[in-house]
Amino acid sequence: MNNEAKLELDGKTYRLPIVEGSEGEKAIDVSNLRSETGYITLDDGYSNTGSCRSQITFIDGEQGILRYRGIPIEEIAEKSTFVETAYLIIYGRLPNRTELKGFSDLLTAHQNIHEDMKYHFEGFPATAHPMAILSAMINASGCFASNLQTDGNSSQFEVQVAQLISQVRTIAAFSYRKASGRPIIYPKASYKYTANFLHMLFSNPYEDYELKPEVVRALDLIFLLHADHEQNCSTATVRMVASSQANLFASAASGVCALWGPLHGGANQAVVEMLEEIHKSGDDGSKFIDAAKDKASGKKLMGFGHRIYKNYDPRAKIIKQACDNLLSVMHVSDPLLDIAKKLEEAALREPYFVERKLYPNVDFYSGIIMRALGIPLEMFTVIFAIGRMPGWIANYREITADAKARIYRPRQIYIGPTINHYVPMHQRPGSPKSQQEAG
Ligand code: ACO
Repeated sequence: MNNEAKLELDGKTYRLPIVEGSEGEKAIDVSNLRSETGYITLDDGYSNTGSCRSQITFIDGEQGILRYRGIPIEEIAEKSTFVETAYLIIYGRLPNRTELKGFSDLLTAHQNIHEDMKYHFEGFPATAHPMAILSAMINASGCFASNLQTDGNSSQFEVQVAQLISQVRTIAAFSYRKASGRPIIYPKASYKYTANFLHMLFSNPYEDYELKPEVVRALDLIFLLHADHEQNCSTATVRMVASSQANLFASAASGVCALWGPLHGGANQAVVEMLEEIHKSGDDGSKFIDAAKDKASGKKLMGFGHRIYKNYDPRAKIIKQACDNLLSVMHVSDPLLDIAKKLEEAALREPYFVERKLYPNVDFYSGIIMRALGIPLEMFTVIFAIGRMPGWIANYREITADAKARIYRPRQIYIGPTINHYVPMHQRPGSPKSQQEAG
């Protein structure tokens, strides 16, 4: 392999080092480009830009491969749990029995939010989106954490990790209870992570929610499948904020905001809204597919397409199977699942989608599982955020541990006006001539 690239500019040849990752991905290192040539790179949407070197997650979008710390997502989905996967992603290897117990115990020890934080929930209107509450409350919880650390190897940081992973679930459940006008349900130390979340969401003061193993497992799977996905919009945002040495809570709160949008994590809510719209209109999906192909319609087939996957998203395959299994075990039939399957079949035959390599992504079927579990629509993206927390934390830990890490600060090509001068108010078009005229 070449270990450098040659760049010819203004009659000069520059040599740029080639960097190769452990799975053979190659990059041209342009770190010194501007200082040597005076030029910068321009890459809309960063499609060709590697922003970091990372050891956490590997994706081969052409082949539909996803691995956390080298382990294929299919193996993790079959054999692991969300808590174990969180440990793997954050600390870089599978825990032994003692480490896993220690991690679980730490999560339990930090499951309660500070009692005073309850008052913060009171300030939100009933119409507030739970993602808005979640980001605000994660940032607020940083104010209650003592001795905030950016050193990812300190024992205090381990406590912060446990606080964040455990409390994001408590905050999410409390925000749902508040929005639905129901009393807050506190976590129970005897319940495991996902069961505890379902308990806080659905129990009542007079009656505990019946925890069905298939329901707990389905939600745990959803968390686990969302646990990390390399440099997506929200993770890159977390790294961006962390690069300024902001604390873990502030960085994670920024990730929630980035995740919220319908082109990213908000797609799981948008998919179900789309399926409902199709169902209500009596369309079998074909009219919607036509609209999604027509740019003027402003419609997209939500849950389809991905910046990296040009093949079936491996998480979508697992979720589709889990969706079928869960609905059959629960004896639920959902017309939206039938529409989703028809849409998928039709889209995968359509030249528009085939030529652009648009396949179902993780969000296409996850919403249907969440509906079956009774999770309200506006909580779907919150579920994604709970699941993604280990990935954000691992990326935070990675960037703060890198002695060579610099603050993230992209450049731009300025296309605004060239030198201009300040014009006094009375000389500006449309302004009265004098103070008196202005009255
Ligand atoms: N429906 C219809 N057309 C689409 C779709 C879609 N879902 N996705 C992409 N296209 C078209 C684009 O219009 C574009 O067409 P063109 O070449 O004729 O201009 C082409 O396919 C390439 O798409 P881009 O938008 O350039 O792809 P990009 O990588 O920028 O965007 C994204 C990826 C945002 C995921 C996009 O596919 C999309 O909007 N999908 C729907 C929203 C969604 O499901 N988001 C969740 C992604 S997964 C996640 O974040 C967890």
